[in-house]
Amino acid sequence: MSDTHTVAAAIRAALLTADPTGKVMATRRAARDWRLGRLAFAFDGIMPDRPARPERPELLRPRDMPRRGKGGSERGQIALLHALAHIEFTAIDLALDMAGRFGSGEGPLFVSEWLSVAADEALHFALLERRLRAFGSHYGAMPAHDGLWESAHTTRHDVLARLAIVPMVLEARGLDVTPITVERFRIAGDEASARVLQRIFSDEIRHVRFGTAHFQRVCQTRAIPPAQTWQGLVAAHFTGSIKPPFNDSARLTAGLPREFYAGIAL
Ligand SMILES: [Fe+2]
Ligand SMILES: [Fe+2]
Repeated sequence: MSDTHTVAAAIRAALLTADPTGKVMATRRAARDWRLGRLAFAFDGIMPDRPARPERPELLRPRDMPRRGKGGSERGQIALLHALAHIEFTAIDLALDMAGRFGSGEGPLFVSEWLSVAADEALHFALLERRLRAFGSHYGAMPAHDGLWESAHTTRHDVLARLAIVPMVLEARGLDVTPITVERFRIAGDEASARVLQRIFSDEIRHVRFGTAHFQRVCQTRAIPPAQTWQGLVAAHFTGSIKPPFNDSARLTAGLPREFYAGIAL
């Protein structure tokens, strides 16, 4: 296709693909074509304000979401898998947008890393969607909320703000909660889902590490102190709270020491 010969056009095409399987394929193709040198480092098209989404799941405001209840029951497990699949589906677009929106300013390595993250998220989504199908359900069978994309939208003007919120708050939060979720699946006897979540956990450490490394680099370029700058950006752009329990060791492995978040935790 002639319109996907630049990396920006390939990313834009994936963002504008609504169908879940289609988005997974377009994302993996963009990442592979970039890796193989088939796409020019050129940013000719602007990224869409909102990525295309399938008709289902219906997107609700977070406060309108039905309560999930406590894990144990099979319905509870399906609801949990569905919520996780939606997070990964949104994460595909978050990583694509990071590469497409900020890649021209940040360079080819930045593009390589966030496209590899996008490909990981596409795989995570596909693995969770397969678990949903094993339970006789599918992505779109339940409502979901759009809170994650809001964080991308409010930080679209500045790569530093985007890095501060998406990998260093949202994905870092995943490091805190995922081991607990793995345990929940184990207790429910669902070893297959536990293994998927374990795989996701180790990939997410890498994603947070990319985020913190680029954040540190940009701070260095701008000659500003990283920890204080991060705290200021979180106060300005994140409406939730930074709350314990923290997985300090996973966060540290990802390059995010306590001096960043301990002082502002609730
Ligand atoms: Fe993920
Ligand atoms: Fe991720």
